[in-house]
Amino acid sequence: MQVIHTLAELRAALAGQTRTAFVPTMGNLHEGHLALVREAARRGGPVVASVFVNRLQFLPHEDFDRYPRTLARDCELLAPAGCDLVFAPAEDELYPEPQAYKVHPPAALGDILEGEFRPGFFTGVCTVVMKLFQCVQPAVAVFGQKDYQQLKVIQGMVRQFAMPIEIVPGATVRADDGLALSSRNGYLSAAERAEAPTLQQVLARMAGHARDPGCTLADVEARGAQVLRERGWAPDYLTLRRRSDLLPPSDAQRLGGAPLVALAAAKLGATRLIDNLEC
Ligand code: PAF
Repeated sequence: MQVIHTLAELRAALAGQTRTAFVPTMGNLHEGHLALVREAARRGGPVVASVFVNRLQFLPHEDFDRYPRTLARDCELLAPAGCDLVFAPAEDELYPEPQAYKVHPPAALGDILEGEFRPGFFTGVCTVVMKLFQCVQPAVAVFGQKDYQQLKVIQGMVRQFAMPIEIVPGATVRADDGLALSSRNGYLSAAERAEAPTLQQVLARMAGHARDPGCTLADVEARGAQVLRERGWAPDYLTLRRRSDLLPPSDAQRLGGAPLVALAAAKLGATRLIDNLEC
């Protein structure tokens, strides 16, 4: 496995490749990322993973500076998972000048849910992903379903810019107790880690009531939020949405079987966790 830090070397290494499969990451890798790499490896090759902590997608008060940089360990994990090339640019390699051209997703998708609580987040994500796509020029790129809205935003960007890249969703990998794997789980204290699977359990309960004609959508959401609050969480959102556009379903859609997804973001202590469940 090659580890490359500059754009010039990346372009030279990938010259002539037409089947590159790409997994963008911010490093600090866990089994969830490695599952995405294995999925990429099934799609052809070569498999490229990027490791780049993208300042543009962090708000000023967020954890950009303390976000763990663990490149040596990440590379040890990536090689046996089937990665052929790691692209790990320094910040001034990817952003040699202030990134003034940016990709703004539509407000209807980019300013709701995560975008409401992290303004500008999806502009930061789209801008770096657009740039990484230009660098790597993949045929396929794999994005985890754990970041459900991010996956939707990227799918929309690729479709609307007619980018010749197949976006492949990667299933969320969970710990034995149901907690979705995330780099941020490492911030949890032992007590918080024990409590963290409640988020998934509340989503499962919401999903169980999603089609219940005896409950309104507001009831289902409010009950879930109450459970979290009682257990010491501070929910940002806990909501049932249409899978197609992440907007609220009408009752006719909800009760008529439209594909839905339950989505949550909530703080446990100082750590903000997100998760989702299709239903
Ligand atoms: O999901 C992530 O880790 C990041 O948002 C991504 C897609 C690598 C862009 O920085």
